[in-house]
Amino acid sequence: MGKGFFISKTVGIVGIVLGAGAVATIIALSVVYSQEKSKNKELEIKPTEATTTTTTTTTTGPTTTTIQSTTSASNEVWDKYRLPDTLIPESYDVTLWPRLKPDSTGLYIFTGNSTVVFKCVKETDLILIHSNKLNLTADTTLSALNGSPAPSITSMQTISKTQYLVFHLSEKLKAGEWYKLHTEFVGELADDLGGFYRSEYEVNGVKHVVATTQMQPTDARKAFPCFDEPAMKAVFNITLLHDPETIALSNGREIESVKVTEGGETLNKTRFESTERMSTYLLAFIVSDFKAIEKMEGEVLIRIFARKEAIDAGHGQYALNITGRILKFFENYYNASYPLSKSDQIALPDFNAGAMENWGLITYRETALLYDSEVSSNGNKERVTTIIAHELAHMWFGNLVTIKWWNDLWLNEGFASYVEYLGADNAEPDWNIKDLIVLYDVHRVFAVDALASSHPLSSREDEVLRPEQISEVFDAISYSKGASVLRMLSDFLTEAVFVKGLSSYLNHFKFENTVYTDLWDHLQQAVNATGTNLPAKISDIMDRWVLQMGFPVVTIDTATGKLTQSHFLLDPESVVDRPSPFNYEWIVPIQWMKTGAQQNIYWMMNKNTENNEMKVSGSDWLVANLNVSGYYRVNYDMGNWNNLLRLLLTSHESIAVINRAQIIDDAFNLARARIIQTTLALNTTVYLSKEREYMPWKSALDNLDYFYLMFDRTEIYGPLQAYIKQQVEPLFLYFKTITRNFTEVPAGHMDQYNEVNALRMACSSGVEECNTLVQKWFEEWRNNPSINPIHPNLRSTVYCQAIAAGGATEWDFAWAMFQSATIATEADKLRAAMACSTTPWILNRYLKYTLDPTKIRKQDATSTIIYVANNVVGQPLAWDFIRANWEYIYREYGGGSFSFANLINGVTKRFSTEFDLKQLEQFRNDNEHIGFGSGSMAIDQSIERTKANIKWLTQNKDEVEAWLKAAI
Ligand SMILES: *[C@@H]1O[C@H](CO)[C@@H](O)[C@H](O)[C@H]1NC(C)=O
Ligand SMILES: *[C@@H]1O[C@H](CO)[C@@H](O)[C@H](O)[C@H]1NC(C)=O
Ligand SMILES: *[C@@H]1O[C@H](CO)[C@@H](O)[C@H](O)[C@H]1NC(C)=O
Ligand SMILES: [Zn+2]
Repeated sequence: MGKGFFISKTVGIVGIVLGAGAVATIIALSVVYSQEKSKNKELEIKPTEATTTTTTTTTTGPTTTTIQSTTSASNEVWDKYRLPDTLIPESYDVTLWPRLKPDSTGLYIFTGNSTVVFKCVKETDLILIHSNKLNLTADTTLSALNGSPAPSITSMQTISKTQYLVFHLSEKLKAGEWYKLHTEFVGELADDLGGFYRSEYEVNGVKHVVATTQMQPTDARKAFPCFDEPAMKAVFNITLLHDPETIALSNGREIESVKVTEGGETLNKTRFESTERMSTYLLAFIVSDFKAIEKMEGEVLIRIFARKEAIDAGHGQYALNITGRILKFFENYYNASYPLSKSDQIALPDFNAGAMENWGLITYRETALLYDSEVSSNGNKERVTTIIAHELAHMWFGNLVTIKWWNDLWLNEGFASYVEYLGADNAEPDWNIKDLIVLYDVHRVFAVDALASSHPLSSREDEVLRPEQISEVFDAISYSKGASVLRMLSDFLTEAVFVKGLSSYLNHFKFENTVYTDLWDHLQQAVNATGTNLPAKISDIMDRWVLQMGFPVVTIDTATGKLTQSHFLLDPESVVDRPSPFNYEWIVPIQWMKTGAQQNIYWMMNKNTENNEMKVSGSDWLVANLNVSGYYRVNYDMGNWNNLLRLLLTSHESIAVINRAQIIDDAFNLARARIIQTTLALNTTVYLSKEREYMPWKSALDNLDYFYLMFDRTEIYGPLQAYIKQQVEPLFLYFKTITRNFTEVPAGHMDQYNEVNALRMACSSGVEECNTLVQKWFEEWRNNPSINPIHPNLRSTVYCQAIAAGGATEWDFAWAMFQSATIATEADKLRAAMACSTTPWILNRYLKYTLDPTKIRKQDATSTIIYVANNVVGQPLAWDFIRANWEYIYREYGGGSFSFANLINGVTKRFSTEFDLKQLEQFRNDNEHIGFGSGSMAIDQSIERTKANIKWLTQNKDEVEAWLKAAI
């Protein structure tokens, strides 16, 4: 799917250090639906109660039996979350009619019917088909395709726990025979962001309703009864009934639209071409009054749909411009042509994930697809580019070839998260965007994967069964670690060999399902065919990275040439109780350079090895993990560390930009793990007064965020601010000069980001000139709201800073601008900035707004709470708020939403005292009966993190204070 409720890769503008804002804007990327799966919780405890009974329907006889649910602890086939291996669908014929107006009782509904043709592969007298929250409205009929009479349906059960309809038959279905099951049903078109749901928006006070879908991972069954597992691929013939004023879209191209009369209404009946063989989770049905722009790319029709106002304002143009180019790029990269006749992309006002790769009809949040050069920042543009690339990458990897089951999700999402950089680089070659994977994925996921509570990329099939377990695998490990290890693999194989194997895999398994080892097999064939030299089989190398959690820190002693590796744990005292089949030993490809000269790759095969070439003496130096292409951290002997520090101070450009960012990030994290002194980590930031590049700065600021989190409530805050001010002032002045006092935009994409860093840090550390400047800009805007004088790149920072310095007047102005914003990216900047207020009652009021969907859309509620928690003033308020409203928040967001884990992590990340820990444990105990749903892992992580923070503070406080005071 799109991407998780991840911390935004690109909008990392508003920072902790503003005394507000997010470390990076939280955006919705991934898993969806926050609906009420959690409500089934009680039912899960007593599974039999979940079994409701309904009247049955029969094909032949008039007899209607009702099966009473048994009360014994049942172990029936319908109590299992996986479908039995008896029936395999071949194709469906689905007609749906969503009502965009409420019925007389105020309910929005859809009606529909569906026929599924399936083959019986093992005889059975049961039909299990997924269905959730659908009411059947007519008799269900079963027939045999060979013309002979089918068994009759003797009774039917609705199993809400496992979300099945179960039909009991009078006789067995025969293996090898084909059958047809027809159902008619009604469902609610709720605003729950899952299955077939509705999204609303207003134009001049008039409400418009859109019917749309989000099926992944388990909500196709909420739209029509289906065999809702990714390996149950079938052909879908879709028909939508809709108002003639609206347009209907689905995966296939529309082939016919006729006027019909249904229930006294004149409707359009739009039929779509049959889909390719595909998984249910990739289906999409949309009825809207949207408008489109389009063009042809070769034989493929490319369309961008959005609200009419957005299209008329040209906001879809950028997406339209780059889509064809990226599609072509992936066709070449995969060596496989785009499998469909059209590629639609649509921006929805309400969408929980960032985007969803429905085959041929990709759905997006507005911020992920729409771009306006007048008001969008370069970060917004980058996000549109990379998300489009991510989703288009899935059209082959994920859609054409699909994982057999959700336990292999990491392969699907990790792959798309890696190649999105390649696709985006092709669309915007000047950005150097491929480098950014190091900051956005590798470094970020290191933070999670260094915890003892992390988990391996791969899970067993039987560990991922329930819908909320499936949702939980859409996490940073799957996306970012998946991307990191696949990039490492592509790098050590070379891209040529990697794509050779990849293309063979895609062509061999097209329209089918795979497990991740199938990819290794095809890559191995490419290795064998090209005579590529590897120290072991691909599966042997990759098993170490896929089957065990975490990653190694490799220590290179340049005095002796000895190398050692150990499992890197952020808290060295944490207990790893998860066993590893490889005893936490990795096969590590080490790319390295000695005093500027790149060396051959060195394969570290064991925990202790020796390489005499890595001996270094005098002022010579060694850097390992070039380009951070490997998924590991590096430590050195003190002699080499000192040489590197000296080099940074004298000629930092001798080390590549990415590795400068790496040295800082590794040093800070090694210090966190108490492998090196915290002062050594701080020493890597001394040279920053001369650094002008974005990546090292971003790496340092991300790490210093931790210092702000730990110290912004202590007396060390002052010296910390003074040190930052001293380091950042030269950068501020540099950008002031090259932009002629911030009136021009720096040419480079990364320079534009770094300008924002300079401004943000200068203002927040108290550079007077900076504060005067941003408040003046905001004031100008407030005095003339129709002309915003602030450059889009700088808006997040300027808004946040001005609101933090201001009071109710500034906040209320921002609120008014938020409500009238015509493009979602602008609204999002304001929404984040409003959390920067330093006035408690304003923040409390803002928190309350998150409970009111007319003020803050549901999709934005959790991220807004996190923004408030990022603010040192807002943190205790947000914590009180979620404790007070836990039941509601859990009900609304706890079921399956990935954002929920972020909420827990976000609100507790400053926790660093025994008192905080007690509160957190109390919270866990108090709410055990309500539950934590998809956030249960996050609760454990938060407790572990809090304990580590407590230790860190005790050990480092004095040392850091002394170092800072000496440095200023
Ligand atoms: C769907 O359409 C295909 C192609 O027209 C047809 O072969 C198939 O039988 C249809 N499926 C159903 C269930 O009607
Ligand atoms: C499904 O519903 C549509 C719309 O009501 C109707 O036209 C069609 O005949 C139905 N299909 C079947 C097989 O009942
Ligand atoms: C389905 O049936 C239940 C129970 O009768 C009812 O509460 C619900 O409103 C129905 N749903 C729809 C969409 O008609
Ligand atoms: Zn994805």
